Amino acid sequence: MAVLLHLDSSLFPLENSGSRQLTDAFRRTWQEAHPQGSVIYRDLAADRVPHLDAATVAADTLPPLRRQLIAEFEKADVVLIGAPMYNFTVPSTLKAWLDQIILAGRTFGEGVPASGKRVVVASSRGGSYRPGTPRAGFEFDTNYLEKVLGDALGLRVEVITRELTLAPVTPAMAALIPQAEESARQSLLRAAESAREHAALVS
Ligand SMILES: Cc1cc2nc3c(=O)[nH]c(=O)nc-3n(C[C@H](O)[C@H](O)[C@H](O)COP(=O)(O)O)c2cc1C
Repeated sequence: MAVLLHLDSSLFPLENSGSRQLTDAFRRTWQEAHPQGSVIYRDLAADRVPHLDAATVAADTLPPLRRQLIAEFEKADVVLIGAPMYNFTVPSTLKAWLDQIILAGRTFGEGVPASGKRVVVASSRGGSYRPGTPRAGFEFDTNYLEKVLGDALGLRVEVITRELTLAPVTPAMAALIPQAEESARQSLLRAAESAREHAALVS
C-alpha cells in the first residue's frame, strides 16, 4: 500500500499559506490516485517535535518519539515537505524534525535503506531568489534542503517553488503582482502533476 508522509511547517492556515496550498494540491491528487493508500500527516508548526538534546543523542536505544519519526520517514514511499522561507531558511520546526530523523548509520551513510526515496519540497517565499536577482545568495531554504536531503542523505528531491507571495500586500512590490500570480498558477499545476507522476511510480 502506498504511503505518503506529508509535513507542513507554515505558521499560517491553508488560506494564507503558499506552502500549505502546494502540499494540499499534491496530497489531494495523490489521494485520488491512491484511494487505498495511507497518508501520515504532521503539522510541525502546530505540533512541534522537540529539539535534540544531549540525552537523545547519547541514548543507546532510541527514545520513542525519535523512533516513531524515523519509522514514519522510512515507511513513506514519498515524503512531501512544506517548506516556507522564514528569515532566508527553513522554519526551525522543520529543522527540528530533520535533526530527529537524520541518524548516522540508520538514515544517513553508505547503503542506508532510505537512499533513493523520493522527496518533494514545496517552498513558498515572499520575494524572489532566482539566479541573477539581488538576493540570490540568501537562498538557504531549498538550497539547504537539496543539499541535506539529496546530496547528504541520497534521496531523490524535487523542489516546487512559489515566489513573490508578498507582492499583493507590499506596495513596493505592486509591479510584481502578475509574476506572483503566474508563479502561484505554475507551482500549483506542478504540484498536482508531480503527485500524478509520483503516484504512478508506486503501486
Ligand atoms: C517570520 C517570517 C520570516 C520571513 N522571512 C522571509 C524571507 O527571509 N524572505 C522572503 O522572501 N520572505 C520571507 N517571509 C515571507 C514568507 O516567505 C512568505 O509569506 C511565504 O509565503 C511563506 O510561506 P507560507 O505562506 O506557506 O507560510 C517571511 C515571513 C515570516 C512570517
